[in-house]
Amino acid sequence: MATDNEHIALMFNDIAPTYDKLNHILSLNVDKSWRRKAVRRLKKSLIDVENPLILDVACGTADSTVKIAEKVENAKVFGIDISTKMLEIGKEKTEKKGLQDRISFSISSAENIGFKDDTFDAAMVAFGVRNFSDREKGLKEILRVLKPEGTLIILELSEPQNVMVRWFYNLYFKNILPHIGKRVSGNANAYRYLQQTVEKFPMPEEFMAMLSDCGFKELKHKALSCGLCRIYQAKKQNEQGVI
Ligand SMILES: C[S@@+](CC[C@H](N)C(=O)[O-])C[C@H]1O[C@@H](n2cnc3c(N)ncnc32)[C@H](O)[C@@H]1O
Repeated sequence: MATDNEHIALMFNDIAPTYDKLNHILSLNVDKSWRRKAVRRLKKSLIDVENPLILDVACGTADSTVKIAEKVENAKVFGIDISTKMLEIGKEKTEKKGLQDRISFSISSAENIGFKDDTFDAAMVAFGVRNFSDREKGLKEILRVLKPEGTLIILELSEPQNVMVRWFYNLYFKNILPHIGKRVSGNANAYRYLQQTVEKFPMPEEFMAMLSDCGFKELKHKALSCGLCRIYQAKKQNEQGVI
């Protein structure tokens, strides 16, 4: 399984041309509603901010980046990712939507974000935190570039805890999904990697503890679609250390 950024970037470069199509096929388009819900929360957290600066970490082909720019009026959105090919598709998508004045992209890893401390009013990571080669370092970097009281929204796939749902999930995720992934993208490893990274991702309580250890406060999480996906929400402390 790819564990360092170089190999992870190469894998995403390889599947970039079919990434969007497969995402929607494999999730039966439910990923769109998960992204919508995450962006709604992000927008709500910015209610008092006039011209917010928002960072989309591991933005990939920019599905979430574009949604943020469309829904959060007057926002400037910065997408970062380690895969050049995923970003190329994201840039094309942004231009087609005429959002190039409000969205910028750069090649950057979550573990080493090329922005100054306290830059962003909010940050989002959609289906990316599972892939960070050093998750703790990535989360601490996001904390660093968030302004005090800035909000982080994380959207991530998860293994459902209900026994029945889990049975169907295992059948689909372990037996059906890798075959469709291989057939459409031509890359069997990438879709095995997807299943392995979801399996290895910490349980919600453990992940919330990690967010807290990294310095985030006001932690919340919500299961979507019977726990197939989760939204995590966290805040950076204000200057007085009080939320
Ligand atoms: C599953 S895709 C998610 C893309 C997008 N956010 C979405 O909602 O479809 C994961 C993305 O994370 C990127 N990625 C993986 N590790 C990363 C890291 N350490 N820093 C930045 N991006 C990373 C990959 O290149 C890929 O584009």
